[in-house]
Amino acid sequence: MDYNFFRIQSRKVVEYVTHDHSSPISTFPEHDNSLHFPIEDYGEHGAAFLSGNFLPLREEYTSFSSLDRNSESDNDGLRIIGSVPDDFPEGQFAYVGPNPKLEAQNYKVWGKGPDQKDFNVSNGWHHWFEGDGMIYALDFDVNSRLCYRNRFIRTKSWKDESEVGARLFRPLMNAEGSTFLLNAVANLVSGGAFLKDSANTALVHFAGRTLALQDTMPPWELDPERLTTLGACNFENQLPPYIPFTAHPKVAPLTGDLVFFGFNPVYPPHCSIGSLDQNGKIKDLTPMWSFPFAGCVFMHDFCVTEKYTILFEGSLDIKPIRQFFGRHPLQYNNDKNARFGVFSRDSNVPLAKWFDCSCAQMVYHFINSWEETNANGQEEIVITGVREDGFFHNALKARDTRDWITRTLEEDLNLPRVHEWRINLVDGSVKERYLYKDIVEVPRINDEFTGVKNRYAYAGRIKTEILRDDAQLKFDAVVKFDFETGDKQVYEHGPGRFGMESQFVPRATKLKGSEDDGWLVLYVHDENTETLGRSRSECIILNAQDISSGPVSRIILPDRVPYGAHAMWRPKLSDFGVRKFKVKGWNYYNDVQPKKYSFLPEQIDDLLGTVRCGILRLASSLFVNGWRPWVRKKKSEIYSFVRAGEYELDEAYRLGSMRMTQSQVESERGFQDSPNLVLYDVETDGECRRVREALCMLDLAFECRPCPYGAYRHRTLAAKLQNVPLGEEILPFLHDSRSRVSIIGAEDILDYLYDVYLDGSAPSPLVANRGTADIAMRSRNTESSSSISHSKMPCRYPVKPLELWAYEASPFCSLVREKLCEMELPYVLRPCSRGSPRRTELLRKAKTFQVPFIEDENTGIQLFESAKIIEYLNQTYCY
Ligand SMILES: [Fe+2]
Repeated sequence: MDYNFFRIQSRKVVEYVTHDHSSPISTFPEHDNSLHFPIEDYGEHGAAFLSGNFLPLREEYTSFSSLDRNSESDNDGLRIIGSVPDDFPEGQFAYVGPNPKLEAQNYKVWGKGPDQKDFNVSNGWHHWFEGDGMIYALDFDVNSRLCYRNRFIRTKSWKDESEVGARLFRPLMNAEGSTFLLNAVANLVSGGAFLKDSANTALVHFAGRTLALQDTMPPWELDPERLTTLGACNFENQLPPYIPFTAHPKVAPLTGDLVFFGFNPVYPPHCSIGSLDQNGKIKDLTPMWSFPFAGCVFMHDFCVTEKYTILFEGSLDIKPIRQFFGRHPLQYNNDKNARFGVFSRDSNVPLAKWFDCSCAQMVYHFINSWEETNANGQEEIVITGVREDGFFHNALKARDTRDWITRTLEEDLNLPRVHEWRINLVDGSVKERYLYKDIVEVPRINDEFTGVKNRYAYAGRIKTEILRDDAQLKFDAVVKFDFETGDKQVYEHGPGRFGMESQFVPRATKLKGSEDDGWLVLYVHDENTETLGRSRSECIILNAQDISSGPVSRIILPDRVPYGAHAMWRPKLSDFGVRKFKVKGWNYYNDVQPKKYSFLPEQIDDLLGTVRCGILRLASSLFVNGWRPWVRKKKSEIYSFVRAGEYELDEAYRLGSMRMTQSQVESERGFQDSPNLVLYDVETDGECRRVREALCMLDLAFECRPCPYGAYRHRTLAAKLQNVPLGEEILPFLHDSRSRVSIIGAEDILDYLYDVYLDGSAPSPLVANRGTADIAMRSRNTESSSSISHSKMPCRYPVKPLELWAYEASPFCSLVREKLCEMELPYVLRPCSRGSPRRTELLRKAKTFQVPFIEDENTGIQLFESAKIIEYLNQTYCY
């Protein structure tokens, strides 16, 4: 039986958000789909976007599962319905959106919330765009593994507001017109910036960095795997603090540069464009619009082609001077025509020119753009996007929202629809037309076609009835547009089910140039169902060539994913093997020198506990079977504990014939065989200890798959192999791949081991003594010792098991094994009890003999010293 095939890791760990303030956090109502919040307190928009599946999450999860799992029941972890396609690539699907972190009352109209002073002038309503960012990521990982995580993006404002337990930033997007400036200044005083940095809008992975983005602010860098927030990113001081970074940077065709722009309504330059090369270095940066206090256009997206960067100056702009006339600075101007600015990135094609559209327009999201030559031989730029003409500016307002939406839907004007612009670079004309009638947003394409002609786009279809009735933005279907034929495909999520932005993921074995050969991945929330007592969202995978046939796979997540903003696909990291397990302070670890019997002060209690266990077990397994001391003439290449003059201590042993043969072969070859024994155990269980002691006495290496209490990773497999439900598995459990035998329970395992590996012997009286093993382990695993061997933390799963040279009776080795057990890290234990020939092997390998000694092939680290090993394990494998 191939064990690796069943290597199932499924677990859920809830990491409650750390809030240092004293007030309780969970005053949001239980999740359901109704609108909870009184409009007079929260405004129409605020009430809508804090309710239903816009309700913020309180918890952060890490959940694992194997890809081959196809079960109708789960254990609060991930569940797969259908199967993830074999040619689905490794990588990470991630999604981000606003998720306000404080209790609900903080998001009332400013002044009604706790600790909010309004001075009777500074009112403002919560706006969806101003909520804290949260990322929701699903890793399609090595070893056929899935991992789901959601994490707050811990920006400066997140930390500052968390510390005081209240909002430091007043609303701006939905501030009352005349109070916008007061609120902005108050934000500067209380929070250190005019605008809150939420990093809640979009994600990009470029040059090894995963960045969470928000308009008008610098990016925030996240650890690509753990999703922990690393800090604000200015690309090694290359990006000046007054240059913001768009939420929608684009990888340019041909060069692979990441092209960006930024608009800054406060400080000049009010707009800038630039690019990063593939090493993450700023390649160029061009400030524009430097006239102070002039304000700027609200630009959320832009376009790139092979030669050009194209800015869109829509009719939504921000002019601070409007404050002095009692108006909000952000206004949509029906009398201001939109226009495109075309800027050459090719020094051979100098161009910086503006092209006027026919009327006032607004676009939040472009689909794509490319260069073409028309029938007259003239160069054109073709742009596709969702034109919406101020629709969202009004639809997300605090007051009179639903009336406005109802009216606009009835008039069928300014609604977001797929549109095309053709800019003639020769005669300066812009031809415009709508391509489809569907009301959509969040359009996406195969990202490999950014900047070159493409055929397909995928977008979310807006459920207009819900927009009208509840003022909520929800997508009831995915629409695939075919610009070549004008056709479309639709996948409807079904009644009460709503999708989020979809992401195209190329098939791992895709045909070159085949634009839709891949998958559409998106989160979907089912508002009808409550699973296992709580609402859960799912990730669906659609065949991009045939979306209307529905998902090929549904991955049920451990919690909801609130409706958010934008998605990202991050392919498998190119240097995955190294980067995944990159260790901080590599040299620091490899330079650790062994010291005899040294320990840290904080280890004293744990050490005394393990010493107590050893005494109660009469130092069983301190010696290999048949150990006896002898004296021989000194041999420098062979391990000896004591040397005196020309003589040294020789430690004889009596091992089984198979082990003797193996030892001789290993000694001649200079490396150790992979063990044929696999043990599922709990470090602090008395019965398990007896088996480990026997393995040490028989000098048998084994792969240990720790099964701490409350964990799933190896217990799931043990239960499967024993053909019992999870929770009914019996430990210790041993599998011998050499004889293809699996044995349950210590008594039978001991009989088997001695019979087979000590040539028909009966178990030693020491390991046969069950009573002292139970007493010894109960003395170790007490409440005061925080229940050692209980799973406490989510950990990475190593590609290859670690190797630990140790023996059962050593208190220092026990500390390392306890940590490995707690972290569910599989390891090969190479026993080195007194008399073991393996002591000489370790002497040859490490130039000295001391245990514990750990080798981690995943990182190349070899390390002595229990305290350093434990520190290393925490550093390397803890999330
Ligand atoms: Fe966007």
